Amino acid sequence: MIRIAIDGPGGAGKSSVAKAVAARLGIVYVDTGALYRTIGYYVKEAGVDPHDAEAVSACLPDINIEVRYENGVQSVYLNGKNPGEAIRTPEMSMYASAVSAIGSVRAFLLETQKDIARKNSVIMDGRDIGTVILPDADVKIFMTASPECRAQRRYDELSAKGMTVKYEDVLAEMNERDKNDSTRDIAPTAAAEDAVVFDNSGMTLEESVDAVVELINKKVGC
Ligand code: DC
Repeated sequence: MIRIAIDGPGGAGKSSVAKAVAARLGIVYVDTGALYRTIGYYVKEAGVDPHDAEAVSACLPDINIEVRYENGVQSVYLNGKNPGEAIRTPEMSMYASAVSAIGSVRAFLLETQKDIARKNSVIMDGRDIGTVILPDADVKIFMTASPECRAQRRYDELSAKGMTVKYEDVLAEMNERDKNDSTRDIAPTAAAEDAVVFDNSGMTLEESVDAVVELINKKVGC
């Protein structure tokens, strides 16, 4: 069993890199942001203010989250239904960020994440994987890049999905979200003390994947 933690701000390429590394090593990729996005989606549909901790907490007993792997691809089911791409919009990014600052939401998702890592060799990406979810991970990487570079990647990603967005808006929203995520009281985005900080500004996806695989090989020799 191997456990790899990848943390860092939005747009650093964590999910694309982790997905590719998982395929190369034959291990499970866990996208923990999808869990917070799914709670954000429920809260939005319920017409609840995502900043209202009490109201969001009151929703939790009605939420059942299930992570399934179908042909090696993670799907998050919300009360038996897969919301699919609906959790990937910029609006849902902000909802996810807001609900993720609430302690009861983080507690609600803790066991789901730990349980997947108990049962599988994983590469898990998020904000608090190396610090909270997998403090004993075999390899911890804090992946980052310049704000402009990260915003450009996010812009390209959203445009490729057919969403009409402005680069300036993407940059502003990303900065706001990163500020929320890294300054919140509970489990803020942070590099674990024993994490390797990897800045991939200007690197292609391939180059980042190669660098991460090399890092993992050096640490655990697999
Ligand atoms: O990785 P992402 O952009 O899909 O994450 C969406 C939001 O979820 C992010 O703004 C903060 C929150 N999140 C978190 O608090 N902890 C994690 N481990 C993963 C995501």
